[in-house]
Amino acid sequence: MNQLLEKIKEFGIVPVVVLDNAKDAIPLAQALCDGGLPCAEITFRTDAAEDSIRILAKEFPHMLIGAGTVLTTEQVDRAVLAGAKFIVSPGLNSKIICHCAKKNIPIIPGCSTPSDVEQAIEHDLDVVKFFPAQQAGGLAYIKAIAAPYVGMKFMPTGGINAQNVKEYLTYDRVLACGGSWMVKNDLIQAGNFDKIKALTKEAIEIVKESRG
Ligand code: 3PG
Repeated sequence: MNQLLEKIKEFGIVPVVVLDNAKDAIPLAQALCDGGLPCAEITFRTDAAEDSIRILAKEFPHMLIGAGTVLTTEQVDRAVLAGAKFIVSPGLNSKIICHCAKKNIPIIPGCSTPSDVEQAIEHDLDVVKFFPAQQAGGLAYIKAIAAPYVGMKFMPTGGINAQNVKEYLTYDRVLACGGSWMVKNDLIQAGNFDKIKALTKEAIEIVKESRG
């Protein structure tokens, strides 16, 4: 497996971040680092995504910063230029996967059906996002879909929180979980970075517990 994906496995959780204002990038990153999770997926759902990635790549070089909600090859280019180390997309888009392969940047595409997973295999991928995890059937569904595809690992995302993340993490085909529960947009907007740090710490404790 790609080294960067191994690193994501070590973290166990990828915070999915929506930043409305790039000025929040630094305090957010500080809270994540202080909470013990130097990793973030900054989503291209806002205009602030690209600048936020650029700021974090410069100011927090030790952090693993990726770009999420990447829907076009143009966004891949902007994310890579800004310094993103990995790409996440909500669905599986062959054009984007090929573009990432050309640029030599790891991509974790969203899958929610066996056909999606088979397309990912066609592209030689061994990790996919499982999205939307809770809504699509949760851990039971992942176990069923993982059974035939023995080489595939999953990053469930969508509806995951401090209450249910442990059950996902204890399944050995789950590489890590993605989620926004510790970095909710309203906490960022309110400048409540202490809460973000506390929720991050709690999340990291759960990762430790899940690994015994
Ligand atoms: C994503 O973009 O991967 C999801 O929107 C994150 O889902 P969550 O907000 O339910 O954690």
